[in-house]
Amino acid sequence: MTMRDFTRATLVLALMVLMIGCQGRPKEKAPIHLNPNMDTQPKMLPQGESDFFADGKADRLPVEGTIARGDLRLDDVYYRGLKQGTEEYVDTNPVAVTATSLARGQERFNIYCAVCHGQDGVGRSIMVEKGYQPPPTFHEPPVLDYVDGRLFDVISNGVRNMPGYANQIPVDDRWKIVQYVRALQRSQTASVEDVPEEQRADFE
Ligand code: HEC
Repeated sequence: MTMRDFTRATLVLALMVLMIGCQGRPKEKAPIHLNPNMDTQPKMLPQGESDFFADGKADRLPVEGTIARGDLRLDDVYYRGLKQGTEEYVDTNPVAVTATSLARGQERFNIYCAVCHGQDGVGRSIMVEKGYQPPPTFHEPPVLDYVDGRLFDVISNGVRNMPGYANQIPVDDRWKIVQYVRALQRSQTASVEDVPEEQRADFE
């Protein structure tokens, strides 16, 4: 190595050290930025100061009547499955049961839930075969004893390893799925007494 190579190598090394050394140290002024690319822009921080407004605050108060996320109290029953103004689950489904709503619930259940819970709600499914955590059966306690509001809450917000489906399934459909889960449960826990007397002969 000639002296010249050595000097050059030292210079390159020093430059590298200098450049690395410039990273990550807090400074008042923005770093020299040859192509700013709109990376740094003036902005107001929440609750900061500003001389733009007469009161010296950077932000304005929210419009009167603004509701914080999660604080909507218009209809706790329908939107959250809770008794109005409480954190207690409602017992019964606010959406009336009809043949159409039940059919819709069945269709949505088979689209969204059956992959994990199985079409019968027992918890045997393709996802479990592929190694997903087996979900509990719907046909025994504790799930059998859940009130409608609690089932709605599980679908909306998920529970432990089950993700919530509020983003994919509209509120109305969630309630119809709850109706269908109830029908599934009836189907697994039914006795001959549930059959109208004149038709019982067919089942005995
Ligand atoms: C990605 C798989 C998956 C999907 C899809 C899914 N679940 Fe689940 N579900 C689970 C698992 C796993 C558990 C058990 C969670 C745990 O205990 O960690 C569970 C638990 C439950 C429970 C019992 C909750 C409890 O408190 O123990 C109910 C009820 C339920 N699911 C209903 C549904 C309904 C209705 C749908 C369709 C909207 C659905 N699930 C979609 C995987 C799924």
